[in-house]
Amino acid sequence: MNSEVRHAAQVLRAGGLVAFPTETVYGLGADAASAEAVARLYAAKGRPAEHPVIVHFATADGAFEFAREVPDAARKLAAHFWPGPLTMVLKRSPKAKDFVTGGQDSVGLRVPSHPVAQALLREFDGGIAAPSANRFGNVSATTAKHVVDEMKVEFVLDGGPSEVGIESTIVDLSGGDVRILRPGRISEPDIEDLLKMKIQKKTAGSPRHSGGLERHYAPKTPVVLVPSHALDAEIAKRGDAVAVLAFSRPDERVDYWIRVPKEPRACAQRLYAALRELDAAGCGVILVEMPPESAEWDAIRDRLTRAAG
Ligand code: TXA
Ligand code: MG
Repeated sequence: MNSEVRHAAQVLRAGGLVAFPTETVYGLGADAASAEAVARLYAAKGRPAEHPVIVHFATADGAFEFAREVPDAARKLAAHFWPGPLTMVLKRSPKAKDFVTGGQDSVGLRVPSHPVAQALLREFDGGIAAPSANRFGNVSATTAKHVVDEMKVEFVLDGGPSEVGIESTIVDLSGGDVRILRPGRISEPDIEDLLKMKIQKKTAGSPRHSGGLERHYAPKTPVVLVPSHALDAEIAKRGDAVAVLAFSRPDERVDYWIRVPKEPRACAQRLYAALRELDAAGCGVILVEMPPESAEWDAIRDRLTRAAG
């Protein structure tokens, strides 16, 4: 892996793109200081230029050089959750250029914990701009194979399946308060407990979020969310052309059924691979059993709601 990491860092220095594993999902990386490299990144993803990208660093000190103000809450979050599946949006410093911030006055910063991501970041010794390594709008990749199946990348580092399985929690601290822009493994109660405060609910359409989060994490096959009690009737109604993602045991009427664990962390870890597999089955619809309403399922409900459009 050492020589592969060195090669990957060379590709990045030459302005190329490298896909690499993180503990959340695979990232598609480019040198965050190079306008040309980041332009290539957006083209490879098919992503509109005004969407900001997260910049990854080996350490919190490195990350905070891209911020011009680091509130106490950000230092506490970094000390507790970095390296790990948390992204912080902070007011940007001059090092964070328009081509990574989408022209906004803030920047998304993350210090991933995956050992291969850490090795790459240390070897490269700079910020790596990296969105999830999937085509814009599709579900994120949690294995190297998912990346290769869906896009052309100069080099892919294979670090095995991502452990968290869904994208990092994004916390916005650029506006004087603390807001969660995207739920993830690190939950709202985790953050409230650490900061000893109540988090503001995000307000829809607030300008700070414009050009913000992708609308879909969606397979090509339509996804329909179904309450547990209605799943049986929905399958009967639709006949045999359905794929099902559920917490319950397979039903013999359905050929493509993936049972996921009814525990949020284990479910998140399997979620995107399961959606990809069911998408490939070529059914008319993917029926997904709705997860429980409790806070620990927030991140999964968020991704499934987006997948269902
Ligand atoms: O887990 C993750 O965060 C993965 C891995 C690779 O680190 N990355 C990821 O990147 O999910 P991406 O680009 O697919 O999603 C990043 C989200 C986007 O929706 C983007 O709009 C938002 O973060 N974002 C980035 N910078 C922002 C900023 N300054 N203000 C508001 N939202 C921002
Ligand atoms: Mg993404």
